[in-house]
Amino acid sequence: MAFTTRSAAETFRLGRQLGALLQAGDVVFLTGHLGSGKTTFAKGVAQGLGVQADVTSPTFTLVSEYEGRVPLAHMDLYRLLKDTEGTTEPTTAVDFAAIGVQDYLYGDYAVLVEWPGALVEEVDDALFVDIVQPGAPKVDEREFRCKATGEKSWKRLDEWVKQWLF
Ligand SMILES: Nc1ncnc2c1ncn2[C@@H]1O[C@H](COP(=O)(O)OP(=O)(O)O)[C@@H](O)[C@H]1O
Ligand SMILES: [Mg+2]
Repeated sequence: MAFTTRSAAETFRLGRQLGALLQAGDVVFLTGHLGSGKTTFAKGVAQGLGVQADVTSPTFTLVSEYEGRVPLAHMDLYRLLKDTEGTTEPTTAVDFAAIGVQDYLYGDYAVLVEWPGALVEEVDDALFVDIVQPGAPKVDEREFRCKATGEKSWKRLDEWVKQWLF
């Protein structure tokens, strides 16, 4: 399943529609190169969740928490990865329980994870969103390639598609 957007505003709107559908315990894995639109999308998701605060990348912590209709846990696990362009491999085995990331999963939060790396193996029902840039001449076009790996995430994806198309 793929969505196409043609501006940052459209990406924001796509994110907002997903955010409006998310429930506590939902997990969204967000990948895409620098400048692909992850932050733009995340801001939309936050607004859809009713978050009032401005969502930025969690720079000094792995997780930022925001109050909303459902609280949002926004993670950026980039620093747990090898510092090589394009890789999604963790530097070493990561103990997600020890660093506290596990506590946010399947709990009270809707969880949005950028650069999830090996965390994808810890979650058996998640919505994967990968942003792909076709590049010149379509500089403002983004393809959102999505897949769901369980019942909950499949339901969200299904509702999201309907929202976007109709
Ligand atoms: N269709 C689009 N969706 C999202 N961003 C777009 C799009 N077209 C152009 N842009 C631009 O690309 C950049 C995306 O930046 P950002 O959301 O910070 O990406 P990331 O967090 O992945 O690095 C912004 O400058 C935005 O204006
Ligand atoms: Mg960003």
